[in-house]
Amino acid sequence: MFRAMVEGVTLPLMVTDGDGQIIFANRSSEEFTGYTRIELLGLNLRDLCAPYESSRYIFSTLSQIKKMAEVDIDFKQKGGRVFMASVSFSPFDHHGSPHLLVTLRDVTRKRIQEGKTREEERYCKLLAERNRLQDQLNRSSKLAFMGELAAGIAHEINNPLGIILGFVQDILDEISEDHPLFESIRIIEQETARCVDVVKDLLDFARIKPPERTRVDILQLLEDSIILLAPQVKKNKVQVTRAYDKGLPYTEIDPHLIRQVFLNVMINAIQAMPYGGGLRLAMGLVHRQQSQKERNWVRITISDTGDGIPQKDLDRVFGPFFTTRGIKGTGLGLSVCQRIMDDHRGKIEIESREGVGTTCSIYFPVGG
Ligand SMILES: Nc1ncnc2c1ncn2[C@@H]1O[C@H](COP(=O)(O)OP(=O)(O)O)[C@@H](O)[C@H]1O
Ligand SMILES: [Mg+2]
Repeated sequence: MFRAMVEGVTLPLMVTDGDGQIIFANRSSEEFTGYTRIELLGLNLRDLCAPYESSRYIFSTLSQIKKMAEVDIDFKQKGGRVFMASVSFSPFDHHGSPHLLVTLRDVTRKRIQEGKTREEERYCKLLAERNRLQDQLNRSSKLAFMGELAAGIAHEINNPLGIILGFVQDILDEISEDHPLFESIRIIEQETARCVDVVKDLLDFARIKPPERTRVDILQLLEDSIILLAPQVKKNKVQVTRAYDKGLPYTEIDPHLIRQVFLNVMINAIQAMPYGGGLRLAMGLVHRQQSQKERNWVRITISDTGDGIPQKDLDRVFGPFFTTRGIKGTGLGLSVCQRIMDDHRGKIEIESREGVGTTCSIYFPVGG
C-alpha cells in the first residue's frame, strides 16, 4: 500500500543516504528530473544541481540534518534545462544510519514573479525619487535664474532710485504744503519709496549667500521677531496666542535669515486679517519621513484666522512674483522663505481654507 501511495503521488519524492546518494526515486521524480529511475539510482543529489550549486553548504552537512529543512536550489534536468526548485529534506533513521526523504517543487515561475514584483517596486520607487529630484532641480534652477536676474536689475535700479528719492525730498523740504504741485510731489516720494521696498525685496530674494549657522534658541528668535511686528499687530487688532512645547533642542540655523522667514510669514498672516483675528504660534518636535527615512524635526506653525487662500492658488504662492495684493505686494516674500528653508535643508508648507484661515508650517531637521 505504501509503495502504491509513494508511486502514485504527483510530488517528486526521493530517498538518499547521508551523502546524498539516491537510493529511491518515485515516478514523479523521473518526470521532474528527466532521468529514468535506473539512472537516478546511480546519481548523487549534487549531480542534479546546476554546476555552481554543487558546492552549497547544505550538501556537506546532509548527514547532520536533524529536522526538516527547505532550500531553494537551481536544478538541472537531464537535457540541461535549469529551473529553480524548492527542495525539502526530512531526515530519518534507517538501520542506524541517517537518511533523507527529499521532495522537490518547481518554483521557477513563482520566484520570477516575486523577483519581478520586487523589481517593479524598486523601479517605481526610483522613478518617484527621480521625479522628485527633477522637480527640485527645476525649481532651484528657476529660482537661481530669477535670483540672478533680480540681483542684476536691483543693482541697476537701486542707485537711481536713491538719487530720485533724495531730490524729491529736497523739493518737499523747499516748497510749502499749499504749493499746487505739493501733492503730486508727495505722491512721487511715496511711490519711489515703494520702489525702494520692492528693490529691497528683490535683493533679499537674490541673496544667494549660504546660511551662516550657529546654535540658536529658535523660540527666542520667534519671540524677537513678533516683537518687531507689534505696531501691525496692534493696528489690525490681532490677538496673538502661543503653544510651545518645552525643552526643544537647539537648532543650527542662520538667525538673520530665519528671522526673515518668520517675519515674512507673520506679515502675510497679519495682512490676511485686516479687521482683526487670531495669530497662533506653536512649536514642537515631530517625527516625519523624508526620502524613506524617519527623522525628527522642530516644527513651527504660524496660523491665522484670515481670509485664506483659494485652492487654485495654493500651488502658486511660493512662486516668485505671485501676489494677490495688487500693487502692495511683490510676491517675493514666500519665495524668499522657500529659498532660505531649502538652504537650511528644512521645509516650509502652507495649508489654507478660504474664509477660515491659513497655517504655515516651518520644519527644521534636528541634528543637521
Ligand atoms: N496667511 C495668508 N493668508 C492669505 N493669503 C496668503 C497668506 N500668505 C500668503 N498668502 C498669499 O500668497 C501670496 C504671496 O505671498 P508673498 O510671497 O508673501 O507675496 P506678497 O505678500 O508680496 O503678496 C499673497 O499675495 C497671498 O495671496
Ligand atoms: Mg508677503
